[in-house]
Amino acid sequence: MTLYSRVRPLAFTLPAETAHDLGKRTLRAAQSTWPTRTALSSAYQYEHPALEVDLFGTTFSNPVGVAAGFDKNAEVTHALEALGFGFVEIGTVTPYSQEGNDRPRLFRLREDEAMVNRMGFNGQGMDRVRDRLEADGTPGFPLGVNIGKMNSSSEDEAIEDYRRVFDRLSPFADYVVVNVSCPNTPDEFDEASPEHLRAIFETLEAENDGDVPMLVKIGPDEPEESVLELVDIVRQFDLDGIVATNTSTSREGLESPERSEWGGLSGAPIENRSTAVIRSIAKHTDGDLPIIGVGGVDSPTSAYAKIRAGASLVQLYTGFVYEGPSTAKRINRGLVQLLERDGFDTVEDAVGAGLE
Ligand SMILES: Cc1cc2nc3c(=O)[nH]c(=O)nc-3n(C[C@H](O)[C@H](O)[C@H](O)COP(=O)(O)O)c2cc1C
Repeated sequence: MTLYSRVRPLAFTLPAETAHDLGKRTLRAAQSTWPTRTALSSAYQYEHPALEVDLFGTTFSNPVGVAAGFDKNAEVTHALEALGFGFVEIGTVTPYSQEGNDRPRLFRLREDEAMVNRMGFNGQGMDRVRDRLEADGTPGFPLGVNIGKMNSSSEDEAIEDYRRVFDRLSPFADYVVVNVSCPNTPDEFDEASPEHLRAIFETLEAENDGDVPMLVKIGPDEPEESVLELVDIVRQFDLDGIVATNTSTSREGLESPERSEWGGLSGAPIENRSTAVIRSIAKHTDGDLPIIGVGGVDSPTSAYAKIRAGASLVQLYTGFVYEGPSTAKRINRGLVQLLERDGFDTVEDAVGAGLE
């Protein structure tokens, strides 16, 4: 029995966001002293040469990262590194601080190993995040920065929002993600429309002197033809990849009473849908466009399924909440066994291996 399996029932008696805040405070305390950070590293890090991934001009020591939303304000990047993750995507970061939606806005769906959230882009804004990255130093593993617009912004203002956050935070980033797929922010206009995407990418392309790899994050609910249309725009602008997928508005097959809450669904129920989106992008691009796979990853087999479907890296949020601090180590150790079983020398060799 792990320590977390004993702590979890207690943590789960707290409202989900309270437990999350408490967990983050614990991680922040743990990363702040050298002995506690080292203790975490020696308990949770797992290294193996087969896990290394070279992508976006940098090396990921393993392919398992923390998805956007967990560390919106870059408060615990060093602790996440010590817990054995291969990278973290901070954000979504907006130009100014925002409260987000009223609480409660985060719900556990325990029977479904899922969560529903309608946080609504709460965050401290780009200046606080920048100050913190300067004060704490960037972590020793790759850092993704997920950028977004203010909830109140019009279509034109949104373009300027992305430009400003990009300008302020891209110097710290190994890659930047444009998030146009949040299902719980006000949708005054279609953020993922081809015209709007073109306007964003044109603006950011002009801003991107440092050639920071740029990706876009998509949702799991779009029909295949819309996904492929977006992929074509991504290629037209020579973007560096796609993060697939965000949370879902679907409630199909759920059992937990909290399924009636509105917001984005994450965790086990979206695993297959998200893997299907990855597979269709990989097929459409002949595996040429890097994909970060996210949605329902909580085990070696679920991570491996996304890699075989075409993801070069995977991320998770909900799986971390349910599985606890040893999540990355467990998944990475299991991945090495799966690679050996199937005769792959490295994770990179297995990317897209399941596409017929
Ligand atoms: C509480 C919560 C907050 C999130 N906030 C963001 C966010 O700010 N930006 C974003 O791109 N994705 C956000 N996500 C989506 C996750 O990054 C991820 O795409 C989604 O949860 C699916 O992965 P999972 O099944 O491993 O949780 C959030 C997810 C959760 C559960």
